[in-house]
This record gives sequence, structure tokens and C-alpha cells, in this order.
Amino acid sequence: MKFENMGDKPIGIFDSGVGGLTVLKEIHARLPAESTIYMGDTARVPYGIRSAETVIKYSLENSSFLVEKGIKLLIIACNTASAVSLDIIRTAFKIPVMGVIEPGAKAAAQATQNGRVGVIGTEATIKSGAYGRTIRRIDPRIVVIERSCPLFVPLVEEGWLDDEVVELVARRYLTAMKLSNIDTLVLGCTHYPLLKNVIKRVMGDDVVLIDSAIEKAKNVSKILTSSGLLKTWDRPAFRKYYVTDCPDRFQEIGKRFMLDSLEDITRIEIASLEEKAIALKNTRCFGGV
Ligand code: DGL
Repeated sequence: MKFENMGDKPIGIFDSGVGGLTVLKEIHARLPAESTIYMGDTARVPYGIRSAETVIKYSLENSSFLVEKGIKLLIIACNTASAVSLDIIRTAFKIPVMGVIEPGAKAAAQATQNGRVGVIGTEATIKSGAYGRTIRRIDPRIVVIERSCPLFVPLVEEGWLDDEVVELVARRYLTAMKLSNIDTLVLGCTHYPLLKNVIKRVMGDDVVLIDSAIEKAKNVSKILTSSGLLKTWDRPAFRKYYVTDCPDRFQEIGKRFMLDSLEDITRIEIASLEEKAIALKNTRCFGGV
């Protein structure tokens, strides 16, 4: 589908918190001319331990907020939100919506030589079975072994990325995975790419790690081009951030993900997100009307 005169609008990206900055970093690197609005639901993070129903509600609210800002493309950077709410959000809004599962699954299906792929993610992502389903849809012969690693998210947020504590936790989570003879492992959570060094040590050099953030960013320019949404005019790009809790903490932890300083951060209230979601239900953007 082609979209007219929308090229100069920003790309909207949301995540449960800071984790989606791994995706944003890749998008900035690949498409520096594009403006972006990032929304981190820092007051309600983590999503990974919540029910699908709750994650869907939060995802619809975050999406409504960004759609109301006039974005041309919505990217769900959060694996958990993508796993449980992508289809619902796609039907709810008229603009193109990208999740993170499909690009990671495709890359894994292409990378595996022995047809055995591991997937790690939050409890909600693994419970949804979304990665396994998508990989098997691409190639039904592939055996997918999935495992949740709930302690990885708090460890990354604490800034413990490569030490003996993280390695101990990683060995506990991943030893069975290693013994199951996989040759490819999907890092199915925004935070896990920051633990790449440790995960690589535990899994060994023979296992290919798939970073879903990189895979997703590669797809963004393809989608923008095919939908006629690439930025065409020479206006300067802007980078705006919204959070639902303290901007200072977002800025502090965000540096770990972006390797860059974050400016122009605005705090928004959860109540206003809920109101916007209700208001947008009655507009032509929402409900597939
Ligand atoms: N962003 C989440 C994900 O990629 C991790 C953090 C959370 O549990 O909210 O699944």
C-alpha cells in the first residue's frame, strides 16, 4: 500500500522502557535523515512478567499516543509487546506497523545450518510462542527450543553487563540450551544484546547470535521505500522522547543502550495515555475504520 505526502512525518517507536533504544540506535545509524519519536512506558515496565491482556492494553495506549503525534510508521520495539499485540495493533491503526518478531525469526531461519534454533526472551514472550510459530511458519522443519531468562532484564538495567554474576545466571539459564545442540540463538528481548559477550562465552563461538534489534532496523528502510514513506525533503530531522516516569532515570540508563546522550525528554501521565486511547477509538485512525 502507498501512502501519499507522509514522508516528512516522524517514525514512532515504543517500548516498555529503555530497551527499545537498541532498535532506535540502529534506525538512527541506518536512516539518519528520519525524524523519530520514541515513547518509553517507564512507569509500567517490565511488560515481560505481565498477562497478555495487560500488555495489549498498554500497547494500544502507547500506539494511540504516537499515532496522535502524526507518525508515518509505528515500530513496536518491545519483543513482549510485539509477541502478544502486533496483530491487534495492525488491525487497529491505518499506518504500517512493524513488530520485532518477524525479522528476528527470518534471520534465524536463514542462519541455521542444522535446523535447531534457540530463542530466549521474557516470560510473556516465551509463553506466547510467537517466535517458535513464526520460525516454523518460515520453515516447518526447524526445531525451536525456547527459554525465558527473567533475571537478564534487571541485570542490564542495573548496568551489570559482563561480570561473574551475569555469567553465573547465564550459565544457569543457558546450559540446557547449549546441550540441545542448537546452532543459532535468537536474543528475543530488547535488553539481551547488551549481554552478548557473556551469552557468547556461555554458548560458544559455534552458535550464531541473532540480534532482533539489528534485524528490525534493516527492515525499516525496506518498508519505508516500498510504502513510499522515505523522507524526501531536506528538512532537519528531530529526535524526541516521551516517558511515563522520571526522565532523569531514562536518560541515565538510556545511555547504556544508545551509547549517546538523550535530549528532549518529556514526561507524560498514564491517565492522559488512557484518555488518548479512548479518544482515538472514535477517530478514523483507530478500529480499522
Ligand atoms: N522490552 C521488553 C522485551 O523486549 C523487555 C523489558 C520488559 O519486560 O518490559 O521483551
